[in-house]
Amino acid sequence: MPTRKKIGLVGAGNIGGELARIAAERELGDVVLFDIPPKENFAKGKALDLEQNGSIVGYDARITGTSSWEHMAGADVLIVTAGIPRKPGQSRDDLVATNLPIIRDVANNVKKHCPDAFVIVISNPLDAMVYELKRVTGLPRERVVGMAGVLDAARFQLFLAREAGVSVKDIRTTVLGGHGDDMVPVLSHCTVNGIPVRQLIAKDKLDAIVDRTRKGGGEIVGLMGTSAFYAPASSAVAMAEAYLKDQKRLLPAAAYLEGEYGYKDLFMGVPVVIGGKGVERIVVIELTEEEKGMLAKSAKSVQAVVDVVKKG
Ligand SMILES: NC(=O)c1ccc[n+]([C@@H]2O[C@H](COP(=O)([O-])OP(=O)(O)OC[C@H]3O[C@@H](n4cnc5c(N)ncnc54)[C@H](O)[C@@H]3O)[C@@H](O)[C@H]2O)c1
Repeated sequence: MPTRKKIGLVGAGNIGGELARIAAERELGDVVLFDIPPKENFAKGKALDLEQNGSIVGYDARITGTSSWEHMAGADVLIVTAGIPRKPGQSRDDLVATNLPIIRDVANNVKKHCPDAFVIVISNPLDAMVYELKRVTGLPRERVVGMAGVLDAARFQLFLAREAGVSVKDIRTTVLGGHGDDMVPVLSHCTVNGIPVRQLIAKDKLDAIVDRTRKGGGEIVGLMGTSAFYAPASSAVAMAEAYLKDQKRLLPAAAYLEGEYGYKDLFMGVPVVIGGKGVERIVVIELTEEEKGMLAKSAKSVQAVVDVVKKG
C-alpha cells in the first residue's frame, strides 16, 4: 500500500510553522515539526493548531511536534531552519557564532537518523551553514542544497514587475552567488516573457532595483525586527515539491560546486535542476564580464565565512 511522504522540519519557529502549513495544504506528505526540548510543547501546539486548520481548509496530512530525533527517522525531505534569525543592524554573517554549533548538532543527527533524506538548508549565514551540514553529514552533493536564490529572485521579480507595470507571473529572472548583500541579480538573462527587461525599464531604475533586491532581506528585518518567513517558506516548499514530484524544475539554489563557474569546494547560488534524484544538474549560463566580476566578489565573501567555519 502506498504511504505518504514524510517531511521533517528542523526548527518550529516562524519559517518552520509556515513550511508546515504550506506543505500540509499542498498535501506533500505528513509533517514532523522538530525543535529543541524547551520548545517541544511549542512545536506540539503549532502542529495541533495546523492539524485543526486541516479540518477547515480540507487537507489530509498528519502534523506532529517533537523534540526527539527518533521521530524524524525515515524523512524523505528535511528542511532546516534551526538557529536564530537576524535583528535590525545585523548582517547574516553576524549569526555564524550562534548558528554554527546548532547546524553541527543538526548535521550529526541528520547523519544518524535521516541519512537518506533530501536536505534543504535555510539557516543563515546560508552558504556557510549548508557547507557545514554537507561536510559533517558526508551526504552527496545531490542531496544537500541551500535555499536562497528562489527567494532572492522572487524579490527581484516583484520589484521589476511593479516598475514595469506587469504581472509578477510574467517576469523571468535569476539571482546567483552568495546569499548576502553582494548577490548577483542577473540582468542579462532577465525578461518579461521573453522581452529583455532592459527594453522596458530604464538603467537607473534597474540599478535601484538590483540594489533593493540585494538588501531585500535587511529591508524586512528593519521593518519587522526579525527575518521574513512567508516567502522563504514558499521558496523552500517549491524546492521540496520539485524533489518529491520529480518536477525537474530549474531554480536558483546554493549548490556544492566542483569547478562549475570556476569555483570548487564552495556552496553558492547557481541555476540547478531539482528532480527525483535531488540536485540533478548544475546549469552553467553565460554571464557578462561585469556579472562574472560581481560573482567573483560574492564568492570571496562566501569563502571568508566558510573559512571562519572551517577554523571554528
Ligand atoms: N536562506 C534564506 O533565504 C533565509 C530567509 C529568512 C531567514 N533565514 C534564516 O532562517 C533561520 C530561521 O529563521 P526563523 O525566522 O524561522 O527563526 P525562529 O527563531 O522563528 O525559528 C528558529 C527555530 O530554531 C530552533 N532551534 C534552535 N536550535 C535548534 C536545534 N539545535 N535543533 C532544532 N531547532 C533548533 C529555535 O528554537 C527556533 O524555534 C534563521 O537563521 C534566519 O536567518 C534564511
